[in-house]
Amino acid sequence: MAKEPRDKGLRKSLTSYGDAGFSLFLRKAFIKAAGYSDDALDRPIVGITNTASDYNPCHGNAAQLIEAAKRGVMLAGAMPMVFPTISIHESFAHPTSMYLRNLMAMDTEEMIRAQPMDAVIVIGGCDKTLPAQVMAAASVDLPTVVIPVGPMVVGHHRGEVLGACTDCRRLWGAHRAGEIDEREIETVNGRLAPSVGTCMVMGTASTMACMIEAMGLALPMSATIPAPHAERIRLAEASGAVAAAMAKTGGPRPSEIMTEASIRNAQVVMQAIGGSTNGVIHLTAMANRAGIDLDLASLDAIGREVPVLVDLKPSGDHYMEHFHHAGGVPALLRALGDRIDLDAPTITGASLREVAAAAEEVPGQTVIRSPDAPIKPVGAMAVLTGNLAPRGALIKHSAATPKLLQHEGRALVFDSIPDMAARIDDPDLDVSADDVLVLRNAGPKGAPGMPEAGYLPIPKKLARQGVKDMVRISDARMSGTAFGTIVLHVTPESAVGGPLALVRTGDRIRLDVAGRRIDLLVEEAELAARAEALPPPARPDWAARGYARLFHDTVTQADEGCDFDFMRREG
Ligand code: FES
Repeated sequence: MAKEPRDKGLRKSLTSYGDAGFSLFLRKAFIKAAGYSDDALDRPIVGITNTASDYNPCHGNAAQLIEAAKRGVMLAGAMPMVFPTISIHESFAHPTSMYLRNLMAMDTEEMIRAQPMDAVIVIGGCDKTLPAQVMAAASVDLPTVVIPVGPMVVGHHRGEVLGACTDCRRLWGAHRAGEIDEREIETVNGRLAPSVGTCMVMGTASTMACMIEAMGLALPMSATIPAPHAERIRLAEASGAVAAAMAKTGGPRPSEIMTEASIRNAQVVMQAIGGSTNGVIHLTAMANRAGIDLDLASLDAIGREVPVLVDLKPSGDHYMEHFHHAGGVPALLRALGDRIDLDAPTITGASLREVAAAAEEVPGQTVIRSPDAPIKPVGAMAVLTGNLAPRGALIKHSAATPKLLQHEGRALVFDSIPDMAARIDDPDLDVSADDVLVLRNAGPKGAPGMPEAGYLPIPKKLARQGVKDMVRISDARMSGTAFGTIVLHVTPESAVGGPLALVRTGDRIRLDVAGRRIDLLVEEAELAARAEALPPPARPDWAARGYARLFHDTVTQADEGCDFDFMRREG
């Protein structure tokens, strides 16, 4: 085997000792301690991120995928090197996983830069991990293959199919309303997440995996193959072979794949799958790392043209394994036709047109609809503006109650998440089903890390009367698995003086999704007086030092992707 040129393989990213020859000599001396031969060390290197963690059950198959990816790399004549990075699980990240996403992106970026590799495979899946990894890949611009860990298989309870976590929320709501007793909710608890892998509804993890596949950064079908299936292990092996080829040729790089066209394609797919609202924040951050702006007005315009075609919870009825057996993302791309830029490239060198043409035909399947018979005639989410959200807010109207989409009601304001938790179930709470629940100080800086608290629970006294949905407004996020008439990501957030800070209980609020408006029906002069009386924003105690201070001082608002303000690539 010919020696790798100076800037490739083990010769890349040398540790600085002032003598390059000595740096390489020392590096080889140490790596030989692990038993590598000169032949192995002379090959192109494919780095593979290891995000396995006892705290991250969603990544419980990571070890198997890594083994398969290594096999693929070696069969194709390159050298795999596995290295650890931060791993984040939704339910094991305090205060929120979003608070840690940028740290994972930084860690992944810097470890790719610091260690010698000619291509990298990133293996992730639980909500914030794939966005963090793609943000890193776009910043380093080294040839990258994404392998999602894949969705869980479904659970079953009393003849009903269950899935994390749309059904977690629905059944917990039923428990709060007294419809399910303590014993049964415990049984359900053991059946909602029956295997390793990511949540198997169209939550954030599935949304990101589908968008990343549609952007050409991962192999066809990578988003949908269930995590425990043998097919996913074979996909990892094939991904290893593709990464080895990219390591040898030096491309394509993320900058050749993440173009204006592929970012637009991702938005089309996000609308068509009934994707998570979190996907908008992550796609914005990923695009910004590639020097591309994501404009909320054009996202809304795409939403008006692109129907929801995939029948998955929470917008529809099925789960990711059913989407997979119906043909997955390639079949969706074919159904979307010229709504997608099919000339966009993928990491294999094939265009999306070739990927769509090769999609499996599945007779009789009903999960991926044609545009003539969609689940919803327009896309999953709409962008709202108005005096309550001058820089925008989102609503996932595909998962909302239709009659609440045009609504005017009295505001009931919660000043923070602890305030909401303390009062929402108070039997004396003055609340009716027509009220609009408002939660503030839950945005990127306010909470911190913009918790998924936008799905405010229905006050217990109303839930017990059978109320299932109300209009809820906040500067928080919500899980992509949630259902309800929920206005999120109100920007700017209240903690930086956004208009949400001015709302008082008793004010009237009008939601007009058809007109794409969210307005506080209070005179401008009165709002100006309230704004005048607000205390100036100050650095809170939790942000006194370390990462918390970096986060607080530099995190951007939702419309800019909640990345740090110095991480964007310009131009
Ligand atoms: Fe990991 Fe849902 S908790 S994807």
